[in-house]
Parts: sequence; C-alpha cells; structure tokens
Amino acid sequence: MHFNIITLFPELYHTFFSVSIVKRAIEHNKINFTPVNIYDFCDPKKRIDSPVVGGAEGMLLGVNIIEKCFESVQKNYEKKPLTIFFSPQGTVLNQALLKEVYNKAIKDHDAVITTFASRYEGHDKRAEEYYADYVISIGDFVSMGGDLPAMIFIESLLRLHPTILGNDQSALNDSFEKNTLDCDHYANPDEWKEKSIPSILKSGNHKKIKEWRYNNSLKKTLFNRFDWWRNQSITIEEKKSAQKIIPSHYVALLHNDVMLPSGEAGESSVTITDIHDISRSARTYGLKGYYVVTRLKAQKNIVDEFLNFWHEEDKKKSQVNNRFFALENTYCMSELEDVINDIKQKEKKDPLVIVTSSRRDNNHENMISFNDQKRLWILERPVLFVLGTAHGISPEVMKKIEYRLIPLEGIEEFNFLSVRSAAAVLFDRWFGLTRRV
Ligand SMILES: C[S@@+](CC[C@H](N)C(=O)[O-])C[C@H]1O[C@@H](n2cnc3c(N)ncnc32)[C@H](O)[C@@H]1O
Repeated sequence: MHFNIITLFPELYHTFFSVSIVKRAIEHNKINFTPVNIYDFCDPKKRIDSPVVGGAEGMLLGVNIIEKCFESVQKNYEKKPLTIFFSPQGTVLNQALLKEVYNKAIKDHDAVITTFASRYEGHDKRAEEYYADYVISIGDFVSMGGDLPAMIFIESLLRLHPTILGNDQSALNDSFEKNTLDCDHYANPDEWKEKSIPSILKSGNHKKIKEWRYNNSLKKTLFNRFDWWRNQSITIEEKKSAQKIIPSHYVALLHNDVMLPSGEAGESSVTITDIHDISRSARTYGLKGYYVVTRLKAQKNIVDEFLNFWHEEDKKKSQVNNRFFALENTYCMSELEDVINDIKQKEKKDPLVIVTSSRRDNNHENMISFNDQKRLWILERPVLFVLGTAHGISPEVMKKIEYRLIPLEGIEEFNFLSVRSAAAVLFDRWFGLTRRV
C-alpha cells in the first residue's frame, strides 16, 4: 500500500512511520508513504491561508494551493488514488467504514491512498467536493488539524492488512470484528491490589474459557455499547444469548389513578384493542409480561373473559394465528402494587419501576432517556414500564415511582399518540434492532 500524505507538517509523520508495526511494514516493503508539504506550493511572500469569503472568523486552505498539491501527486499515477479528506463534519469512522475504504483502495485504486489533512478553519468546500472520495471524521469533537485524524485512520486501516500484524488471528478477535467487543484479558501476576484473575481463565478448561469469554464480551457489548450492537446483523442465536443477559422487562397499562378530562384523578375504561396490540408489541420486543391494571370489577371481568379465551390451551394448538403466543403473558391485576409483587415473586428481585408521560417537563429527580439502558441494566434488576391511560398518570403516582422516562416526541409540536402506539415506539426505542444493510 502507498500513502500520499498532503499536510502542512510532514515532520509529524516521520516519527509515526518510523516506529513499531508501521516501521516493520515499511522495512518489509508492505507499505510506503510520500509526504507532500503544502508549504512547497505556496508562492514566496504569499500567505498559505486565505480569508473566509463573506466575513467569518478564521482562515482557510484555498482551492489553488490544494489543486497544486493534488496535481503533484496525480502526475505519478494513471489512476486516481483513493482520496480521503478529514473533517468533523464527515462520516464518523468505524470498523465497517474502514473495511469499505480498505477494500475499495485495493480493488479500484491499486492500493494507493492520498490523505489530505486540513488546518485553520478547514478548507474551501469546493476542493473537498472535487477531490474527496471519502470525508472522514474521527468523532464528534474538533481537533486543531487533520494530521492526527489521518494517522488514526492509517493505523486502523493497516490492522486490516492481512500480513502486517505479527499474528494475523489477533485482528479477528478485535472489538467490532464480530457482533461483540473484545472480552476482558488478564496477564500475571494473579493477585494485584486485591483483584484476582477470574478463576475460570486459570482452569485450563478450554470449552469453559471460550464460554466465559463469549458471555463476558456479549455482556460488555450489551451494557456498554447497545447503541452499536443494535445496528449489527444479529442472529437468532445471538438474540437468545442477549435475552439471558439483559434483565427481564415488563409493562403495565394503568387504568387506575389516571387524570380524567375533569382534571381529577380517577379510573379509565379498558380497551380491547390496546390489550391485543400491546401484547403483540411486548412479545415482539421480548418483554416477559404485560399487565392490564384496573380495580373496577366490571372492567376486570371484561379483561378476564377476553384473556381466558386467548389463554385456553387447546386454542393455542389450533392454527388461528400467533395471537395466542402474544397474549400468553398478558395478565389483569387490580393495583400497580400487585404487579410489582408479582414481578418480585417471579424474579426474586424488586423491579425498577419507570413511569412514562407525554409531558415535556423534567420534574422528576430520576429522568432517564432512551440511551440509558446501561444505567438500569447494570443494577441487574427487572424493569417495569408503567404506561398511563386517559390524560396520563396522576402526579401522585408519578412522584412515588423511582424513574421517569423522557416523553416520546417527533419533530412536530403536536403530540398525541395512542397508548398502544406509544408502547410500540417505546419498546422499539429501548430494545429495537436497527440493522444496517
Ligand atoms: C479546527 S478544524 C475545523 C473545524 C471546522 N471549522 C468545523 O467546525 O467543522 C481544522 C481541521 O481539523 C481536522 N479535524 C478537526 N476535527 C476533526 C475530526 N473530529 N475528525 C476529522 N478531522 C478533524 C479537519 O481536517 C479540519 O478541517
């Protein structure tokens, strides 16, 4: 592989290319680089940077000097080298993007890559539009220039080269290679600051060690990077393993202590459509149970009669449809307390209870958002979402509950989801897999 490195500071790269694995790769003629110093193309007595047109802070690298740099590179090749610009506004670098760039460089560009590292306020947009095949960001922050981003990109790309790492297996177990992060590793001494190496790793039982490593990586991935995991192509087996690690979740639909149009708290009526639809959503997203909560006897009778129909064993066997399975874990209870006790009995642990509301105020001391799975999962307790009916859960009940979830919102001011839609959106935001294609 060959790297043409367009930069204002070529000296930064001399150390980078003269140490460790990168140095060895150069010595073994696997890679090489040509620094292109932008200053070499600056007319004597002229400034290298240009003011931003339209009057804004800072200076830019302009199109004329960038063009000269690229011409000096291009004259050495028939094909255009794969060209990478760096910008905090670009596509955030990840393993999938690295692989795409690596494969493209090999396949379409004779393994030649040109990197362009900007400085100041950046570069004229037209140069990027004209030359860049990829504009890459190394994360949502702003560094002083594109040189460190370029080095991060090159180092990470070289890990993908089949012969550059000493042990070509080690990259295969890296984080992000499979659908997991790498597992925890330890080296002797066994005891250090009262921490010891997990005994299974010293057992010599390779099957058990493999199992431990898999569970350790999966748990770490689910708890630390659920945002990343849910974007991968997850197999049915992986889903099953994840379900064993993620604490059990339940949902309750509250018809007691909800706000009525009169402005007072009271009871609302049950809706059979809600029971059908929330049961199906709950089952789809792997919740362990759905509780319809009403203390009104007549309403309870309606729900019980309905559930009895769907819970009958022989009906499950008939091929009506999968709704039997959806409703298998749907129950009717009189009070929220009964639900909490039921979960406690099943799970042998108190559930973490989370209320939901469509109100935008943040007046609860424990607000959680849809990115806070880890905050709860790490406590290794079951989770119960409580959804309200009518005009929402009464402030009295809200106050008593440990956590409150931020409201579901779209980009519209109007916010009036039905509770069954809200349940589906909530489950999807919390658990939904959003596989990239
Ligand atoms: C100070 S930055 C310019 C930031 C630009 N004004 C903005 O706010 O988007 C100068 C140069 O550093 C590089 N750079 C800074 N942060 C980066 C990041 N997160 N990823 C990739 N390159 C970055 C880019 O080459 C950028 O043009």
